[in-house]
Amino acid sequence: MPKTAPPRTYRVKSFGCQMNVYDGERMAELLGAQGISPAPEGEEADLVVLNTCHIREKAAEKVYSDIGRIVKEGRRDGGEAPMIAVAGCVAQAEGEEIMARAPAVSMVVGPQAYHRLPDMLARAVEGERVTDTDMPAETKFDALPARRKVGPSAFLTVQEGCDKFCTYCVVPYTRGAEVSRLFADLIEEAARLTGAGAREITLLGQNVNAWAGEDGRGRAIGLDGLIRELAQMPDLARIRYTTSHPADMTEQLIAAHGEVEKLMPFLHLPVQSGSDRVLKAMNRSHTADGYLRVLERVRAVRPDIALSGDFIVGFPGETEAEFEETLSLVDAVGYAQCFSFKYSARPGTPAAEMEGQIAAQVMDERLARLQQALNRHQLAFNTASLGKTCEVLVERAGRHAGQMLGKSPWLQSVHFTGDAQIGDMVRVELAEAGPNSIGARLLEPAAA
Ligand code: 5AD
Ligand code: SF4
Repeated sequence: MPKTAPPRTYRVKSFGCQMNVYDGERMAELLGAQGISPAPEGEEADLVVLNTCHIREKAAEKVYSDIGRIVKEGRRDGGEAPMIAVAGCVAQAEGEEIMARAPAVSMVVGPQAYHRLPDMLARAVEGERVTDTDMPAETKFDALPARRKVGPSAFLTVQEGCDKFCTYCVVPYTRGAEVSRLFADLIEEAARLTGAGAREITLLGQNVNAWAGEDGRGRAIGLDGLIRELAQMPDLARIRYTTSHPADMTEQLIAAHGEVEKLMPFLHLPVQSGSDRVLKAMNRSHTADGYLRVLERVRAVRPDIALSGDFIVGFPGETEAEFEETLSLVDAVGYAQCFSFKYSARPGTPAAEMEGQIAAQVMDERLARLQQALNRHQLAFNTASLGKTCEVLVERAGRHAGQMLGKSPWLQSVHFTGDAQIGDMVRVELAEAGPNSIGARLLEPAAA
């Protein structure tokens, strides 16, 4: 590649999960610390970072088409195409292929190596094409600049990777083994987040409830211990965590839901299927009934908990009767919201080699039926919350004049009109239920 002028502006485009959103923010901060500014809205950037997701579908194909579009549409001052960096899980899984197939790409950087982006950038400016998909022993978190400006609701990655090896999933390969960040580092980052304006922190991890560490006094603790410690921070009002695995819902973590007031009444606990045969073939290490018993225990200590989950339809060999077991489980739980997906064969995973791959139209039909059921439950949950008063953390202005948007404790999107600022915690009465959001009435002016 020819030498190029150092980029003055950047844009980071993140796809996929919230951990990618977090990584995207950290990459943006890292580029900011190099003196590169975010490209103004509507303008092309000198450097585009595609922070990709590999979990489903033709993710890699989408990356190639995005690259093509950026080369075509984004021209810098000198008429050059922007520099392109491919980050995230597609970079990790298919880095070499990307370099071979997409000559416009200057940098390929995996999710564990992006702290080295400034060095890669310096080399790329000299005309080198640079790939770094190492999973180095040093942690990227230590090398990242401190967090300065964040919204009222911030993400904090506490754990990465996964040792569960569900047979359909690429995460154990792209993100590697489970690693917990150190307690002291997390407390420090949480303090910086609240110092920078965060009032709610969502603890993130592919298997967040497998987080393990030692507290300040050297005692072994799990995620519940970390949550209890964070709850002591006076400026922090709300704590959430995602995504969890049923096998790691410990007694103590369940108890924390009943005891820690700042821990919001919301639990995202994927189950994937309601059929024990399918769960076994997925290597999920729990049965449908085992999952329901975990939820029962959580509900016993926190009766108003809002539940969420992930589902896959059309896993290889899934029969109509097995799919109906999923529908029964959905009805038994009464989820507040959910994510549901068609099974997508991922190269290199055991399920991709299994017999009985399901035809596309069967998957379409099952997904439509499942989503119909999930939507019904979501609306029922929202309707059942009408008349409740609760606090809403105001996150942004809405589309209409004077309208503000935020989240209820149960993670519902709430909109209301009234005198409130971003970052305020306001009291509202939930008044009008839609499938995806709730209209509310402001009860008290914002606390000073
Ligand atoms: N096909 C479809 N959905 C998948 N998920 C993970 N891998 C696949 C796949 N190969 C879903 C699971 C997981 C969520 C993050 O993505 O439901 O919980
Ligand atoms: Fe993937 Fe299963 Fe690990 Fe979740 S628990 S990241 S679905 S392997």
